[in-house]
Amino acid sequence: NSGSNIPGYDAYSKSLETSPVTPEEFALLQKTIFFGPEDVKALRQAQKILKPQITEILDTWYGYVGANPHLLYYFSNKESGEANGEYLSRVRDRFEQWILDLTDANYDQQWLNYQHEIAKRHHSVGKNRTDNVNSVDHIDYRYMVAFIYPITTTIKPFLQNGNASQKEVDAMYEAWRKAVILSVILWTHPYIKDGDF
Ligand code: HEM
Repeated sequence: NSGSNIPGYDAYSKSLETSPVTPEEFALLQKTIFFGPEDVKALRQAQKILKPQITEILDTWYGYVGANPHLLYYFSNKESGEANGEYLSRVRDRFEQWILDLTDANYDQQWLNYQHEIAKRHHSVGKNRTDNVNSVDHIDYRYMVAFIYPITTTIKPFLQNGNASQKEVDAMYEAWRKAVILSVILWTHPYIKDGDF
């Protein structure tokens, strides 16, 4: 399967913890934000357009993080405060794969379980473990939600670089926006106190 040689990438691992979000709850979440089969189709179309531009997309996102010391902080060494280049580059490889995965997902139990793993990797319960780094322990909740904006708005020009009509670009953009929002909701589970999610 694609991505299986990326260090720390565990989307197909059978030993993932089962997501605390049930399939029924996830289905209702999708319904709540009008996410349906048309979006899945639009995301598949988006993948064809985004895949050849993946390096430029990651350059954009990493440029943004790198230009913001308060964000680069989360990739820095806990003692020295220096950005950890190896950590950045390992996460970058998984981030690239995530774009391909999100635009080709079937939203099944295995996918749900990996979203919970990614959730834990941002939170103090699991950050730094995958790459065995000595970085800061936790990504603050407020930035998880805030990132929805840059991760969505910056994708639009890349979607426009394909041969799709404006109507298709809009549909792909909306689908991407919904998929990112869904992901971030699932990724914030560890931040929410028991019973409140
Ligand atoms: C890991 C995406 C929010 C910093 C990752 C990964 C992805 C990702 C795809 C790799 C997952 C894997 O291991 O397979 C996103 C998205 C976000 C978001 C889509 C919100 C929309 C943030 C924020 C920060 C951040 C706000 C802080 C600057 C990191 C770090 C890791 C990581 C440090 C590595 C965690 C570890 O030690 O395993 N992110 N992220 N992310 N992200 Fe995010």
